[in-house]
Amino acid sequence: MSQTPPISEMKSRMDKAAKTKDEDKLYKREGILYSTILSPPETMDKLKDLEAREDDLILVAYPKCGFNWMVAVLRKILNASTGKNEKPPERPPLVEFLPPDVQEKLAEMPPRRLLGTHLHPDNIPPSFFTKKPKILVVFRNPKDTLVSYFHFMNKNPVLPSAEPWDKFFSDFMAGEVAWGSYFDHALAWEKRLDDPNVMIVTYEELKQNLPEGVKRVSEFFNLPLTDEQVSSIAGESTFSAMLENSQKSHGNFGSIFFRKGEVGDWKNHFSDAQSKEMDELFQAKLAGTNLGARLKYDLYCQ
Ligand code: A3P
Repeated sequence: MSQTPPISEMKSRMDKAAKTKDEDKLYKREGILYSTILSPPETMDKLKDLEAREDDLILVAYPKCGFNWMVAVLRKILNASTGKNEKPPERPPLVEFLPPDVQEKLAEMPPRRLLGTHLHPDNIPPSFFTKKPKILVVFRNPKDTLVSYFHFMNKNPVLPSAEPWDKFFSDFMAGEVAWGSYFDHALAWEKRLDDPNVMIVTYEELKQNLPEGVKRVSEFFNLPLTDEQVSSIAGESTFSAMLENSQKSHGNFGSIFFRKGEVGDWKNHFSDAQSKEMDELFQAKLAGTNLGARLKYDLYCQ
């Protein structure tokens, strides 16, 4: 996405964030919190005009479920499959971060475009469904997602500090965090699981068998790879490999996007009471759903 604002603009947004009071960093739109600096109302309004194409690669993830990991994997798949060696763009391909004029320039981008979002499916550009591009949705167990979100907010100047932990825990449980409730996102995707253009992958599945994940994702987007390409992409996309390369790939944002990359770090953060509270919420919201089963809650959250 070479048309997206360069890293210097991201830096200026970060500088602006550093001067913004925490209480002004988020605003509410139709009941959901968003970043005032990255996703102001004019940016959000413009998204309804964004025209998807059938051959776009759409990546959707609730924050902290592994979005940037999959961005890197998808770019590698695209390059390997098409034989091109496109320089990675300088910012994450989140459409809700693109100012209106930059959103307009997306129309000039050659195929195949990689477009991403953290938005709830009811709020993503409508053409993401009507034009029928393939949509890859990444999910992660809610306990590790919460922990990752907590640290991300504390390191990212665009978002308010998440301290203290107990307050952030309650905010996450209530959906009072940027992009809204994890559970609302999950329930909305649950309703779209039968859509042949939607594929769900989980963070935990990817951690367990990355080559298999790379293969499935490449086949879903109809970007065939040889076995050698699959194993080379998987090798370059492990947490340690990406962390090592992060200064080059993400500059100073590397330390914000790559933290621990583990399954189960929640055990170092949750009190017994908080763990039980999440178990009860999961039970009430997602137990018995297909997506709930895919998350293997019993295995990863108990
Ligand atoms: P942790 O904070 O638990 O370490 P997102 O990109 O959606 O913001 O997700 C960020 C999470 O993905 C962070 O989790 C980050 O460390 C993890 N992550 C990034 N690259 C990864 C990789 N190659 N393998 C596993 N986890 C990765």
